Amino acid sequence: MKQQQVQEHFGRQADEYEELMVRLVPQYLFQHQIIEDLLPDEDRAYRVLDLGCGNGVLSELVFRRLPRAQVVGFDLTEKMLAAYRKKLAGFTDRFTLQAGDFRVDPLGSDYDLILAGLTLHHLTWPEREAFYRRLYAALRSGGRFIARDIIIDEEPEVTGDHYLLWKKFMQSRGEDPEFWYARHVEKDHPMTLTDHFSWLREAGFTKTACHWRLYNFAVTSAEKP
Ligand SMILES: C[S@@+](CC[C@H](N)C(=O)[O-])C[C@H]1O[C@@H](n2cnc3c(N)ncnc32)[C@H](O)[C@@H]1O
Repeated sequence: MKQQQVQEHFGRQADEYEELMVRLVPQYLFQHQIIEDLLPDEDRAYRVLDLGCGNGVLSELVFRRLPRAQVVGFDLTEKMLAAYRKKLAGFTDRFTLQAGDFRVDPLGSDYDLILAGLTLHHLTWPEREAFYRRLYAALRSGGRFIARDIIIDEEPEVTGDHYLLWKKFMQSRGEDPEFWYARHVEKDHPMTLTDHFSWLREAGFTKTACHWRLYNFAVTSAEKP
């Protein structure tokens, strides 16, 4: 998607973002539990990047679980950043927001944790491979990268089956599955976990792991040694 299309698309959804995600993404809220369990246990002043932060749904997990962590929320869509400010108004001393395009704008550095929720599929495959090297560079040694995203299976036939299950899920929640599937095919660049992990390892990451997967969605992590 081009920068302006992304802004228009997410700008329209900003106010009802989470309600919509619950209808479009299977076990959307359950994924938060998985991600929360992957956050560090110690109470330290962690530096966290929430990439494609949207309305701050993942930052909120950090604020509640890690009382001294500071978050940089990075997003292209002003309306999403406005929704973040509103939702997380009780934590204003704990975040800074950066409006920008993560494909070209600097990400910052020395992060202990990078979260990327439903956002890396906006990168084309060649962009993604190069982008993992930038994520690696932005992390401190010992830092962790956690992503949840839409994926495809290594076997095209299985991907087809997964799409049918996804459509069934959306239909059961009152959404139009063909509309959302067509948007996905037109605009997104989902990748296999095999490619995801292999490009992460090429960038230098270790301990690449999948913690949860349900048909074409997964939560993964990797560490910078
Ligand atoms: C589906 S929302 C994800 C929100 C939240 N992280 C979550 O897990 O539900 C994707 C977000 O990524 C942002 N985004 C997409 N492409 C981007 C880019 N190139 N640079 C910065 N943000 C981008 C969109 O504006 C949107 O807010």
